[in-house]
Amino acid sequence: KKIWIINGPNLNFLGIREKGIYGNDDYESVCEYIKRQFNLKSPKEVEIEIFQSNYEGKIIDILQSAYFEKIDGIVINPGAFTHYSYAIFDGIKSIQIPTVEVHLSNIHKREDFRKISVTAPACIAQIYGKGKDGYVEAVKLLLEK
Ligand code: DQA
Repeated sequence: KKIWIINGPNLNFLGIREKGIYGNDDYESVCEYIKRQFNLKSPKEVEIEIFQSNYEGKIIDILQSAYFEKIDGIVINPGAFTHYSYAIFDGIKSIQIPTVEVHLSNIHKREDFRKISVTAPACIAQIYGKGKDGYVEAVKLLLEK
């Protein structure tokens, strides 16, 4: 199966941004960690590709590419776009690929504006507050589908 992981704005700044909230691991090591979990156990079962963009339109381009590439499942952390991007909500709805939303932090225990996700209703599940393991859990959930 082919799974794409799409990260939105500022996630490339992991290890630099708000370490008390997002931890000390940098973006590259988080990506390697996620891939390693699946390469060790099931090298043939899943192919994982990870994308990151700070641009809303680019994220929609990637979602549309996933449609043309016939990707089996998507894990998305839309960053702050989570809270207001109806364009990304529509983008996820458009492609009809099972999508799981992930947040490193517990968005339900932070500022009020983070409690609302406009993108989650387009997804089959939302995982939050589990750090990088949230991505691993999301991939597993998609593989069970
Ligand atoms: C985040 C939570 C968002 O509210 C925030 O804007 C981010 C990261 C998370 O992974 O916890 O950029 O999506």
